[in-house]
Amino acid sequence: MTEINCFGSFPETRMRRNRRWPWLRDMLRETHFSASNLIWPIFVIDGKNQRQPIASMPGVERLSVDLAVLAAEQAVSLGISSIAIFPVTPPDKKSEDGKHAFDPDNLICRSTRAIAEKLGSSIGIVCDVALDPYTSHGHDGLLIDGYVANDETIAVLCKQSINQAAAGATVIAPSDMMDGRIGAIRKALDQSGYQDVVIMSYSAKYASSFYGPFRDAVGSASNLGKGDKKTYQMDPANTDEALREVAMDLSEGADIVMVKPGMPYLDIIRRIHDTFHVPVAAYQVSGEYAMLKFASQSGAIQERECVLESLLAFRRAGATSVLSYYALQAALWLKA
Ligand code: PBG
Repeated sequence: MTEINCFGSFPETRMRRNRRWPWLRDMLRETHFSASNLIWPIFVIDGKNQRQPIASMPGVERLSVDLAVLAAEQAVSLGISSIAIFPVTPPDKKSEDGKHAFDPDNLICRSTRAIAEKLGSSIGIVCDVALDPYTSHGHDGLLIDGYVANDETIAVLCKQSINQAAAGATVIAPSDMMDGRIGAIRKALDQSGYQDVVIMSYSAKYASSFYGPFRDAVGSASNLGKGDKKTYQMDPANTDEALREVAMDLSEGADIVMVKPGMPYLDIIRRIHDTFHVPVAAYQVSGEYAMLKFASQSGAIQERECVLESLLAFRRAGATSVLSYYALQAALWLKA
């Protein structure tokens, strides 16, 4: 860092000079965060006019389809770019092979159709591709002899993707971490006439312990039991491996790549941004939401300031967009 010296030193140079006035700080700010950078994940349930609280995620509710449509309308009015739908599948619809994933009348498809009908292209509709909402064992793929089978799962994920695209999904987001699924899904979508459906790949998805509240929210925690996803999700210790995952997904046709979780993995976002210069999404996951929310509720931190700071940090690290359960609240704060 020797070249830094050529900028001069104290007292000619005073770093605080540029921080003296609000207009000056505003003028010199290097990164910005706005509602258009946000993707709002929501949980949907059966029924009408139903909302259920989630104990491990205070402030987040599971919504019936009619209320999910209202939520999407609110998101549009605040300038949020897109909504990511996660279905809470009734236990009797779960099976060993997760075949409810291709039912055109499953919750995610019904929600997608309802939102698309009401809002057209004024909001992006992101549909998650993975089998965990539908399997009795809670894994993202097909279990064969106790192991999640890669190639057999890919064929199923292609069917799931087409089912969601047919319902009106504008973004398909594979979160399963099978090898080769992006290429196969791209081909399947193209062959079915969905060339313009965007693929946002969960490329660097880690086998993280920060997903706990999400698994409570969708009801997959009890299905998975003591199991974990370490044979397909990445080891939290690895960083070079994330670049290889991203390179493969890009070569297979991914339009946007994702890093998940978010805040503990800002270094991964930065490396991907600097290496590939492609759109990178970051997922501020359920455990991160819970940390911010519970710390705020206890009075230890100031919620608004800390949440907005956390979102800005993603942009500074190089993320183009951020999935956050705080999306609606943050958009309201940004507008205020
Ligand atoms: C499932 C999926 C998970 C999340 C998004 N999609 C959980 C998992 O991999 O077990 C986690 C999101 C969160 O924690 O907020 N394919």
